[in-house]
Amino acid sequence: MSHVLSCDQFTRSSLEELFVLTDNIQADGSKYSRALAGKIVATIFYEPSTRTRLSFEAAVARLGGNIISTENAKEMSSAIKGESLLDTIRVVAGYCDAIVLRHFDSKAALKAASVASVPIINAGSGSGEHPTQALLDAYTIYKYKQSLDGLTIAVLGDLLFGRTVHSLVKLLTLYKDVTIYGLSRDVLALPDEYVSLLAKKGVRYIACISFADIPAEVDVLYHTRTQTERFQNSDLQIEEFVIDQSVMNSFSPQTILLHPLPRRHEIAPEIDQDSRAVFFQQSHLGMYVRMALLYNLLSNQ
Ligand code: NCD
Repeated sequence: MSHVLSCDQFTRSSLEELFVLTDNIQADGSKYSRALAGKIVATIFYEPSTRTRLSFEAAVARLGGNIISTENAKEMSSAIKGESLLDTIRVVAGYCDAIVLRHFDSKAALKAASVASVPIINAGSGSGEHPTQALLDAYTIYKYKQSLDGLTIAVLGDLLFGRTVHSLVKLLTLYKDVTIYGLSRDVLALPDEYVSLLAKKGVRYIACISFADIPAEVDVLYHTRTQTERFQNSDLQIEEFVIDQSVMNSFSPQTILLHPLPRRHEIAPEIDQDSRAVFFQQSHLGMYVRMALLYNLLSNQ
């Protein structure tokens, strides 16, 4: 694999291999601590990030590689002088062995890959996709549920602009007998292209209007933040579906709660004490998934 642009490019066996490698790295990171020795990874972020950039950088460091970075490329790179994304990519590719790119244009990673001489890793492209987040989401589900076949999952919140949901539903099409419940306000419903893809791949998709539409025994609740920064109309007010303890109590003791983070009010802080709330473990596991991905892309071993 040379670029990581979209969840379209994964197969079930490539995911299974990645998860086994992630398990191994997690079990004994010291075996991998020189895997990227002499390699340089650039992180170029045109949109804010905490987890994605820092976990990628931690992953590179833990594999013995080096990082060059621009964390606010919109203002602190030559973009502010009018340089195009493609010129920046052409130049930075000459300094490093891979580029981790986050950009507000949903086609940015694809465009970057068309000119880059090194692998491009899409770390979030506008309201399009966020494939490495979906890999860590799927890995977290695998860790807690052992398998994704037969999974029932509710995706909640901003299904329109939420790139993590877009990538995750694509990955879920690789598994058998999956049912997805989608709970959002009408204006933030899952775009038709994803609904059609799910239908084509035989994944059941059930659009919901309240928590009561989601079965109490659902395996996973996957909540997301309303992506207000992507609203054309900044006055648009969205009433969020808030998961507080009384909502959580209506679900099974086996239902786990995921969130790509950052969360705001959509998950009440009281939920953090609930053992089913595994979103901090999820973000922690993400670092190992990113180590595995970088290892596959860059290690000579
Ligand atoms: C997400 C993103 O950037 O799309 N964050 C992340 O990478 N964990 C979700 C969000 O910003 O709401």
